[in-house]
Amino acid sequence: MAEAGRRPYTLLSCGMSLDGFLDDASDQRLLLSNDADFDRVDELRAGSDAILVGAATVRNDDPRLLVRCPERVARRRAAGLPAQPLKITVTSRAKLDPEARFFSAGTGPKLVYCASDTVDMASAHLSPVATVVDGGRPVELRRVSEDLHVRGVRRLMVEGGGEVHTQLLTEGLADELRLVVAPLFVGHPDATRFVGAGRFPFSGARRARLVETRPIGDVVLLRYALSPRFRESAW
Ligand SMILES: NC(=O)c1ccc[n+]([C@@H]2O[C@H](COP(=O)([O-])OP(=O)(O)OC[C@H]3O[C@@H](n4cnc5c(N)ncnc54)[C@H](OP(=O)(O)O)[C@@H]3O)[C@@H](O)[C@H]2O)c1
Repeated sequence: MAEAGRRPYTLLSCGMSLDGFLDDASDQRLLLSNDADFDRVDELRAGSDAILVGAATVRNDDPRLLVRCPERVARRRAAGLPAQPLKITVTSRAKLDPEARFFSAGTGPKLVYCASDTVDMASAHLSPVATVVDGGRPVELRRVSEDLHVRGVRRLMVEGGGEVHTQLLTEGLADELRLVVAPLFVGHPDATRFVGAGRFPFSGARRARLVETRPIGDVVLLRYALSPRFRESAW
């Protein structure tokens, strides 16, 4: 599937509560950002070749994952890029609704990396709306990342959720983190945390490098360099 060793510059982007949650446990999506911060995220999307989210985020949040600002879309076109970044998700069970906005919003391509034993099932209901790719069993994000590089993705933005962030961080596949902290607590035992348990490269004496802090209205942006590939001007 992949060209070993080469992978896109990978930026993790998300917002969390003061107690480290990405969402609460309700059916409604918890809005952690404010308008100015959503606009910052839109600019990041506009600079991306592709946006990746986990399948639970597709199911729970039903995100469009589109660049919203028409000027940014025009800028992409003028630069010879597709109007919208490629959309990517990963799944083992392949239980995704083809009518989800991940698939229906925007005319650009969508990729679904699924486990080998669910490729047939996924193709049966998703092939009209996405390209289904055999991601192996289990799906390894390193292979996914390398395959994306082969497909021409050089700047990959990852917008959650916690399971995907955890794997990319623990497997050393993330180059940069842009984390927004919102001034509220979630405090629910069933809510999703920014990351789960794992062996993270930054723990104990090894600390990530903080490269920026920026208040944006009532939230604060923390930007960290996570790998030697970090570039100030990557985006
Ligand atoms: N605050 C924010 O910025 C933000 C951003 C994004 C999401 N969120 C929140 O995060 C929550 C979802 O996070 P989450 O941690 O539960 O889930 P997630 O990371 O969005 O998705 C997890 C799912 O992705 C699939 N997956 C992940 N790694 C895989 C692998 N290596 N191989 C195969 N499949 C893999 C599996 O799908 P299957 O179950 O289909 O097999 C798994 O159940 C949502 O409630 C959402 O609101 C918040």
